[in-house]
Amino acid sequence: SDRMMLGPLVGSIDQGTSSTRFLVFNAKTSELLSHHQVEIMQKFPKEGWVEQDPKEILSSVHECVEKTCEKLQQLNIDITNIKAIGVSNQRETTVVWDKTTGEPLYNAIVWLDLRTQATVERLLKKIPGKNKSFFKFRTGLPLSTYFSAVKLRWLLDNVEEIKQAVGDGRAMFGTIDSWLIWSLTGGKNGGVHCTDVTNASRTMLFNIHSLEWDPELCRFFDIPMEILPKVRSSSEIYGLMKSGALTGVPISGCLGDQSAALVGQMCFQDGQAKNTYGTGCFLLCNTGQKSVFSEHGLLTTIAYKLGRDKPVCYALEGSVAIAGAVVRWLRDNLGILKTSQEVEKLAAEVGTSYGCYFVPAFSGLYAPYWEPSARGIICGLTQFTNKNHIAFAALEAVCFQTRELLDAINKDCGVPLNQLQVDGGMTNNKVLMQLQSDILCIPVVKPSMPETTALGAAMAAGAAEGVGIWSLNPGDLTAVTCERFEPQINPEESEFRFARWKKAVMKSMDWVT
Ligand code: G3P
Repeated sequence: SDRMMLGPLVGSIDQGTSSTRFLVFNAKTSELLSHHQVEIMQKFPKEGWVEQDPKEILSSVHECVEKTCEKLQQLNIDITNIKAIGVSNQRETTVVWDKTTGEPLYNAIVWLDLRTQATVERLLKKIPGKNKSFFKFRTGLPLSTYFSAVKLRWLLDNVEEIKQAVGDGRAMFGTIDSWLIWSLTGGKNGGVHCTDVTNASRTMLFNIHSLEWDPELCRFFDIPMEILPKVRSSSEIYGLMKSGALTGVPISGCLGDQSAALVGQMCFQDGQAKNTYGTGCFLLCNTGQKSVFSEHGLLTTIAYKLGRDKPVCYALEGSVAIAGAVVRWLRDNLGILKTSQEVEKLAAEVGTSYGCYFVPAFSGLYAPYWEPSARGIICGLTQFTNKNHIAFAALEAVCFQTRELLDAINKDCGVPLNQLQVDGGMTNNKVLMQLQSDILCIPVVKPSMPETTALGAAMAAGAAEGVGIWSLNPGDLTAVTCERFEPQINPEESEFRFARWKKAVMKSMDWVT
């Protein structure tokens, strides 16, 4: 029967900033068989603060796993064919929990959160010349509110229960991958406390060359090393699922979501790049086994290490904090959209921003500026401007921000990319994709199955030693079918609009002093 023909399957948890998904793939064909998605609550308790409930995140994972398994059973697919599970996650988001109760000791501080601006300022004073890039060679990162170390510092300084738990030896720190893997593999009853090298590389406590937690950095941030998870490769068996429909299935892949997308887009060669449009927007370029340091505001990050004995590969990364989030803002804060999808129609109706520029610097500006004091602006308004133009300007902002990342990558790498591979939820928006190609003046290429983040984590899980059901040999990888968008405006026009955008960016700077 078909059921017998199907062969081994791999499940993939994709825990992003806006939603959680569970997807099941056929390990032989990469075909997506079924999935389920749940939106995650974001709390904004104060201006600039962004929190999530770690227990809601965990229960959303359980819900997605159970619902997907039900859907598979309805399709007459035997869920015992699922032989491995991969995890990919929003990176940097910081959780501290009590290992004796299994309970989080505070909400998760989300990567976008700005509360640590004062912490960053204070730490900068300890650095010669207040040089933000002082630890760049060791960590690949500038000192910024974005990374986990400062968030953890804030929790240790401000949450009494966390101080106590650390004192009593009950505290565990983790990014979302660690929190999920620990909880899913048994939690307080023997859960495995680990992370992978890609997630570790976003904490600013990790030495990206020695692949170990860095004692000196831990001293600088004053972080007790015993609360840190063990760092493993991105593809190995970490532990087994301890509850639910997939009890007993090994969790054997773990990658930060942006690394997972790089793997899912099969960017295994030096120089291959992808841009993922989620809550934020992240352009990663594989630099192979050498770590390249940017002169143009990019991060150096770990791309993947697909097995304990496999080499580590690095990437240059351009990070934009607000991409899909600007559409959610138009929907939830301005109320000019009923659904996020509607933005495409609104923008298409006008086909221009009519000179309106929208810099969504809600969390300051990330790459290439790294300017926490910037704030959002909408400018160039006239009496003619309406909500359609603003919707268009919001989409154009995502494209301009990507253009800034591409320019930086091209300068750092020397060889300009001649097309851009894209993925993520927003890439279903054809107006956005065409606009992106117009603004970049190069073709934009989108796989017909845009869930590449989940696919990458599934590949890592299926390829793990002791699982061995997914071959990552270039010859065995199934070619993906793609949709292409070619530039349709002339480069002069594109340059003109980009120059205007840059002018708008300058106006958004130094707002908070
Ligand atoms: O660094 C944050 C990133 O991992 C979040 O990804 O997909 O939730 O925008 P996403």
